[in-house]
Amino acid sequence: MYDVILKKRQGIELTDSELQWLIHGYVAGDIPDYQMSAFLMAVIFKGMTPKELGAFTMAMAYSGDMVDLSAIKGIKVDKHSTGGVGDKTTLVIASLVAACGGVVAKMSGRGLGHTGGTIDKMESIPGLRTELSEEEFRNQVNNIGVAVIGQSSNIAPADKKIYALRDVTATVDSIPLIASSIMSKKLASGADAILLDVKVGSGAFMKTIDDARLLAQAMVDIGNANGRIVKAVITDMDRPLGQAIGNALEIAEVIQTLKGRGPQDLTHECLVMATHLLVMSEKGDYDNCYSMVQTALQNGAGLAKLRELIVAQGGKGQVVDDTSLLGSARFTYDIRASKAGYIAHMNTEDCGIASVMLGAGRIVKDGPVDMTAGIVMHKKTGDAVVAGDVLATLYANDESLFEGAEKAYVQALTIGTEASTIGETILGFV
Ligand code: URA
Repeated sequence: MYDVILKKRQGIELTDSELQWLIHGYVAGDIPDYQMSAFLMAVIFKGMTPKELGAFTMAMAYSGDMVDLSAIKGIKVDKHSTGGVGDKTTLVIASLVAACGGVVAKMSGRGLGHTGGTIDKMESIPGLRTELSEEEFRNQVNNIGVAVIGQSSNIAPADKKIYALRDVTATVDSIPLIASSIMSKKLASGADAILLDVKVGSGAFMKTIDDARLLAQAMVDIGNANGRIVKAVITDMDRPLGQAIGNALEIAEVIQTLKGRGPQDLTHECLVMATHLLVMSEKGDYDNCYSMVQTALQNGAGLAKLRELIVAQGGKGQVVDDTSLLGSARFTYDIRASKAGYIAHMNTEDCGIASVMLGAGRIVKDGPVDMTAGIVMHKKTGDAVVAGDVLATLYANDESLFEGAEKAYVQALTIGTEASTIGETILGFV
């Protein structure tokens, strides 16, 4: 291991067998955390060649189960976001794509740090199960065209172990380490076509568009080299997506969006990504697929598919008609503007942290999550405010949490005197 670390530190390309040995030895417990940490830090400074990245990712993918979805008919599609705040696109997109005849076999994750996770959000729906056996998963996708479940514990266990180490050794924000982490799980999960949503901005791991492009390209290359159809869309995460942050609040926004009454930024991103997934599913060209998706939104087919998905996974389908069944926090608190102006910027990571402080995310690994806590934003970047306007409403089950969360949220906002224009939410494709 000493030699492998030294080679990486000196920028000498590692062989496939050295990388396989490294992953195998670490998962088996033969390589200690301190040596793996040194290796990861060397990667932060020296990067990885494309050949190294391919071998490293495959070794992580093959460290656990490789799911076989061949018993499911059609082109199986998946989407994956690199993580954001208020990012509830998965359930909207999955419902729309399945309503248009696409086949969505998706494994999702839980919240990580300031970012939310689809599985936590889904678990705010009463009764809904996110753990299905492989057989239940396959049958559900064959029957209704969609299933969204949590990753089984044996999908890319090397990533699980390495991610936990990266989290505490300042080695998360590295393009090769993020690319291998995400793609090892995606390759192991078995979908034929994968749409990657690479977020960029103050709420994302990638802070610049150039880095987002490099990450997107690295992931697309890994997927293509392994026979998968992969496309990446680069989307803005310099302000939270939609208006709601927090699990049940976001599910309510998903339902509103599928009723055609969602926030414009969220609706637009969902329509574009669902269209790309249908094109990847060979359902037509972009324009045809876009109008199919739009129709499914307008005629309620997407909403009906969400209800089917919820019921199939044991949840209460009536939440689609009555979102109060999701429950609500005991206390609310309005944050008001102290001066007039325009919201010039939102530090989106800090907005996510404010929501975690209310209980909507985990402070420690495997810690509890308050399903009804969170934030509803009434003003976002670009909006004019006058003193006294409600900027956001906080939701919590413990009133004492409001003070700290308000402080964090207010500090995340920059209120300027000049109207600022907000750019496109979709920034490019790879
Ligand atoms: N999401 C992942 O799954 N892994 C990373 O490294 C970053 C985001």
